[in-house]
Amino acid sequence: MAQNDDQFKRVVSHAKEYGYIFGSSEIYDGLSAVYDYAQNGVELKKNIREYWWKSMVQMHQNIVGIDAAILMHPTTWKASGHVDAFNDPLIDNKDSKKRYRADVLIEDYCEKLNQKAQKEITKARKRFGDSFDEQQFVETNPRVIKYKTQQKEILERMARSLDNEDLADVKALIEELGIADPVSGSKNWTDVKQFNLMFGTKLGASAESATDLYLRPETAQGIFVNFLNVQKTGRMKIPFGIAQTGKAFRNEIVARQFIFRMREFEQMEMQFFVRPGEELKWYEYWKETRLKWHLSLGMGAENYRFHDHEKLAHYANAAADIEFNFPFGFKELEGIHSRTDFDLKAHEQHSGKKLQFFDPELGENYVPYVVETSIGLDRMFLAVLSHSLEEEQLDDGNSRTVLKLPAVLAPVKAAVLPLVKKDGLPDLAKSIIEDLQWDFNVLYDEKDAVGRRYRRQDALGTPFCITIDHQSLEDQTVTIRHRDSMQQERVAISEVSKIIGQAVAVKTWLDK
Ligand code: GAP
Repeated sequence: MAQNDDQFKRVVSHAKEYGYIFGSSEIYDGLSAVYDYAQNGVELKKNIREYWWKSMVQMHQNIVGIDAAILMHPTTWKASGHVDAFNDPLIDNKDSKKRYRADVLIEDYCEKLNQKAQKEITKARKRFGDSFDEQQFVETNPRVIKYKTQQKEILERMARSLDNEDLADVKALIEELGIADPVSGSKNWTDVKQFNLMFGTKLGASAESATDLYLRPETAQGIFVNFLNVQKTGRMKIPFGIAQTGKAFRNEIVARQFIFRMREFEQMEMQFFVRPGEELKWYEYWKETRLKWHLSLGMGAENYRFHDHEKLAHYANAAADIEFNFPFGFKELEGIHSRTDFDLKAHEQHSGKKLQFFDPELGENYVPYVVETSIGLDRMFLAVLSHSLEEEQLDDGNSRTVLKLPAVLAPVKAAVLPLVKKDGLPDLAKSIIEDLQWDFNVLYDEKDAVGRRYRRQDALGTPFCITIDHQSLEDQTVTIRHRDSMQQERVAISEVSKIIGQAVAVKTWLDK
């Protein structure tokens, strides 16, 4: 754990030092849980967004994109249930004055039970070696059974109490489990209260005539209210999807863990409209398809897992998270939700407009069911950054800091480095840049010894360094150094663009 804490601290400071992420309005000491993307961060973020968009929109003939406004008619949020139900249960510690999400305190307690069970499994695996049968052990070992049963019972009780709005029981559960404030150790808790997460704002110049609005807490509703517009103008036939990326805002009670939980963040969402009754088939399809997208980036299948929801949101009949192994443990990265016809029906009721599809094969009108995929762009950014950052021990006894970003996502694809600042090498380097920059984000660096320049690019995550030396002037060849292997090869200048292009192409990665 200490090692993971250290890794997380390294990620946060690396993000700042190498121009990925700055705290918002830092000169005024920042704004809690709000961040700015810096010169390299904005490129990485854009590349992640594009990788998502290409796989979801460009590669699906039946999915189109939109870009709806952040501000929406206030009735939208009444219809969607956000005004009444977009609450988090919060609890304060009377001694430390710190505020927590009551459900998160309970989930963290359950995660500890889970870790205890895992410890037993690891110990047994060591003891029994090759003959170890994990499934049998999990099903028969009394301690593992105890931890798993406790965990299940606690989560079920919490889900029941939250569903029934029984906040007194949520507090009782915290007290019965002896959960203490993680900072102060105090168990002196207030009652649990509901807290609405939407940010309010006003439309209009004068206080009397102004309309109360909300900053959207999810991009999905912009898709629902445009369902019929897109269906009709795009002549879309069910099943079809509408995708969108954009900012969302939540007044999170506990905003922590850097860009994992922010108050202003970006979502990449897709609503897939299907025939009623077929939603669970499509739900399974999208679970599998989205996991494949994650795996295509090569960050290790062992770092992902599904978490099926016990407590379903007010609009869902099935829901799962894709969790990623962040430096602080497995946490939600993406949600896949079978949202039924809840949203479209609610918008029909509140707007008085029909939001239905005439299915020519069935010869009937219906309100489609919806399967949603929803991923936080910032969270994906954190997953990529934290997985890629390594302190690598080298064979010569030295170490290097290297950001092994998937090349398709790297902000800078290649650095062009003249070996020396004279003899015409910078001129040749610049002519290579002029050619490459039409297709790739590339940079020029002539400062310091070439070894130091390589290290700088390693830390930035640049997959290729192209070094120009005196031989380059004679035979029009350069050295390409590969970031991860540190291997170097001599290639013709005319080949460079092809080599980079192949390595960073979306097709190379997605089409695995
Ligand atoms: N439209 C469905 C929806 O918004 P959600 O599970 O609340 O579902 C979807 O959010 C995704 O958005 C999450 O899986 C997470 O990646 C991201 N997300 C949610 N709240 C966030 C926050 N405060 N900061 C950063 N990302 C967040």
